[in-house]
Amino acid sequence: SILIIDFGSQVTQLIARRVRETGVYCEIWPYQKADDGFEKLRPKGVIFSGGPDSVTREGSPRAPEAVFASGVPILAICYGQQTMAVQLGGSVEGGHAAEFGRADVEILKASPLFEGIWEVGKRYPVWMSHGDRVTRAPDGFEIIGTSENAPFAICVDEARRYYTTMFHPEVVHTPDGGRLLANFVHRIVGLTSDWTMSAYRAEMVEKIRAQVGTERVLCALSGGVDSSVAAVLIHEAIGDQLTCVYVDHGLMRLGETEQVVGMFRDHFNIPLVHVDASDLFIGQLEGEADPETKRKTIGRLFIEVFEAQARKIAEDGKGAPSFLAQGTLYPDVIESVSFSGGPSVTIKSHHNVGGLPERMNMKLVEPLRELFKDEVRALGRELGIPESFIGRHPFPGPGLAIRLPGGVTREKLDILRKADAIYIEEIRKAGLYDQIWQAFSVLLPVQTVGVMGDGRTYDRVLALRAVTSVDGMTADFFPFDMTFLGRAATRIINEVKGVNRVVYDVTSKPPGTIEWE
Ligand code: XMP
Repeated sequence: SILIIDFGSQVTQLIARRVRETGVYCEIWPYQKADDGFEKLRPKGVIFSGGPDSVTREGSPRAPEAVFASGVPILAICYGQQTMAVQLGGSVEGGHAAEFGRADVEILKASPLFEGIWEVGKRYPVWMSHGDRVTRAPDGFEIIGTSENAPFAICVDEARRYYTTMFHPEVVHTPDGGRLLANFVHRIVGLTSDWTMSAYRAEMVEKIRAQVGTERVLCALSGGVDSSVAAVLIHEAIGDQLTCVYVDHGLMRLGETEQVVGMFRDHFNIPLVHVDASDLFIGQLEGEADPETKRKTIGRLFIEVFEAQARKIAEDGKGAPSFLAQGTLYPDVIESVSFSGGPSVTIKSHHNVGGLPERMNMKLVEPLRELFKDEVRALGRELGIPESFIGRHPFPGPGLAIRLPGGVTREKLDILRKADAIYIEEIRKAGLYDQIWQAFSVLLPVQTVGVMGDGRTYDRVLALRAVTSVDGMTADFFPFDMTFLGRAATRIINEVKGVNRVVYDVTSKPPGTIEWE
């Protein structure tokens, strides 16, 4: 495996993504605990990430000496390059303003790092971070790639197998970066691609069996990809010791509940309790217009309904479940250095099935803890979950309630469901679904005048939204062409009673959020 030591770069996770794409397992450890990580993982190679600090600052982060002492190959990126330089006896000069930008590196000498990718004497685009820079390399190092503003762009010690770059190979703006990382992993460290989803599946099945023994596991299914993949995997491991509970809040999209329940019961034969709590949820949301209160109400009711159901299951004579299954992913467990941990403003109180364990005092089974989202999708495919389900856009825990500004009623839900289904169908027909991170409709509490046939209408406005994003943290609106929007709007107005006007949301995030509430 590969150990990635995190010095706080915003893009450390991308290094892990690229390494795993080469079929090799890796973990990210913060530099403060890198000694433990090195000890535990016993990696065959190490990568130092970039970071925001300056090595010239007293007390700035350093890599563990044990890593150098072990003799394993190291790839050191940006801040990593600088800390390696000072730790091995070179020097670094500060005082340059940190700045990201495109640069061209000229290759001066061949190296296994770019074998088969870059040729000597040519120039290649990379994404550089200008800030502090190395001014004298440690003994044994040699510059093999250079650029105008970064004389030490690529500086290596082939004998010790230490490779350092001032640019970031992990970002997409370094087009050949993924292949350079693959060369490091395969040619230099010598690891073969054995991190596959079928291997992971077999390994996790064994781990789940060992962890759970003969006890029972409860899983709250949300209808999303993560909890579904976790449930199918756990069922493969322990069969009917698993009980899934689907709390139906009545806020799902058209046909969605039927799809989830059908898939679990009929396709996978997994015991599933479908709790129809829609009257309870919709009843309490009817007179409530405040977005935060809506979110909190949904979160509270969900826990109440789930707990009541858990008590019922415990009374079926087969003993109380002692484990709760969770679809926690790797990005949620990485202790990122860049995470400030300081007080931050709550923009929205998130509801998903993840808030349960604190209350329920159960042990956790988290078979996806080591995976990134796209790896979860790959595992889902491996487990035979249909592509149409796996490739779906994210859907928020509070469901359609936060896509209906104002109080929630069955009538409004009905209009929104029909309109949204048409919108999504048109997106699929146009072949755009997979280019979009998330697309959905919002039914506005606004009525406007229209004319249909010879008559006057006074109906609601529907807003369409579609965004591109990498992680949901930032987003751009999707640039549909107007013909597409016109077609979708015409169909919605003609086919959905209650909507007579359609608008498109062109707000990015920030300053907007993706959802409207
Ligand atoms: P915002 O609206 O905050 O959304 O820009 C970012 C992403 O998170 C999703 N979202 C949620 N997901 N529970 C969830 O599981 C929630 O309460 C929730 N609120 C927003 C949203 O759909 C988008 O993908």
